[in-house]
Amino acid sequence: MTDTILKHVRPSLHDLKPYIPGKPIADVQRELGIDNIIKLASNENPAGPSKRAQEAIQQSLFDLHRYPDGGQVVLKSELAAYHNVSEDMLLIGNGSDEVISFFCTTFLEPGDEIVVPSPSFSEYKFASTLMAGRTVEVPLGEGFEYDLNDFANAVTDRTRIVFLCSPNNPTGTYIRQSDLEAFLQRISPEILVVIDEAYNEYVEAPDYAQGLDLLKKGYNVAVMRTFSKLFGLAALRVGYTITKPEIVNYVNRVREPFNVNHLAQVAAVAALHDEEHIEVSRKVNSEGKQALYEGFRRLGMKYIPTETNFILVDTGVDSKELFQALLRKGVIIRDGGFFGLPTWIRVTIGLPEENTRFLAALEESVKEMKLEVK
Ligand SMILES: Cc1ncc(COP(=O)(O)O)c(C=O)c1O
Repeated sequence: MTDTILKHVRPSLHDLKPYIPGKPIADVQRELGIDNIIKLASNENPAGPSKRAQEAIQQSLFDLHRYPDGGQVVLKSELAAYHNVSEDMLLIGNGSDEVISFFCTTFLEPGDEIVVPSPSFSEYKFASTLMAGRTVEVPLGEGFEYDLNDFANAVTDRTRIVFLCSPNNPTGTYIRQSDLEAFLQRISPEILVVIDEAYNEYVEAPDYAQGLDLLKKGYNVAVMRTFSKLFGLAALRVGYTITKPEIVNYVNRVREPFNVNHLAQVAAVAALHDEEHIEVSRKVNSEGKQALYEGFRRLGMKYIPTETNFILVDTGVDSKELFQALLRKGVIIRDGGFFGLPTWIRVTIGLPEENTRFLAALEESVKEMKLEVK
């Protein structure tokens, strides 16, 4: 029976690899029997969630027997005012992961192509594979910098979506304003350019290309944002896109009616206006970034300057082994093997004490590993 039905699994699923998330703290506690673990693996906000979001959730606990607002009216109206766009330009997902799937479900027939940076966020490929699409990976250049000419050259008559991640996960590098507009001028209006700006709110570079500006100029762009990073609501799953109303009209058809739960919607509205939380989160990140840069320089490790809340660093040793060594010291990071970078690690910028502890554990682990080799 099982054999028979498995014959009918859609062929594209054979190539599908489930997403491997950053290792949860509870797993490490269980597996290694240690406490006092710090997780710098999933680019979460170390300053925690917005207090105003927590209060909004508390006030909504009496409404749990009701379905959420399927039209997401309040959240959409707040986001529309926040970004100075019309409400029909917004589509909200159960995390931006879901929005990525929406785009692929809407536009990809089997054999159609998406173009993505490499290394980058794995969900683009996942969502395209799910639809039996092909993923064309464009390697980033020297220092993991974008050269958008390479992306324009990768477009074929089967390309339906170009996913640009800026700033990019896992490299922290970004697209410059003038480069993006020149690229968009070269791209057919039959192709959707999705700009995943999950880390937008952390950006400090003045020449960063704001996808929204280009959308407002009329280009075929869909900007993606999330409440999981700076806004600190990763557990609640709220991400969204801003794009042309006629695109929203179709993408909205593949959305489940109650895809974003009520607590997530009220918390997102509150977090959007929690200026104090936003300011603290940015400050923690900006200062932590400098502390980690300095630590890496002291250890003689090459790092990629970042516009996000994480840093990619070349440790010069096997990153899988280093991951395990750090784990034994209660520090969870992301090893670069996942991104095809076997000596690199990606570390989320933490609180000051977490950064100090990570740097000490890193120094010690690398020393131990080098001694073992000798
Ligand atoms: C570039 C990028 N896009 C999207 C996401 C997913 O965000 P969400 O939590 O909104 O699904 C992440 C999460 O790490 C990310 O790094």
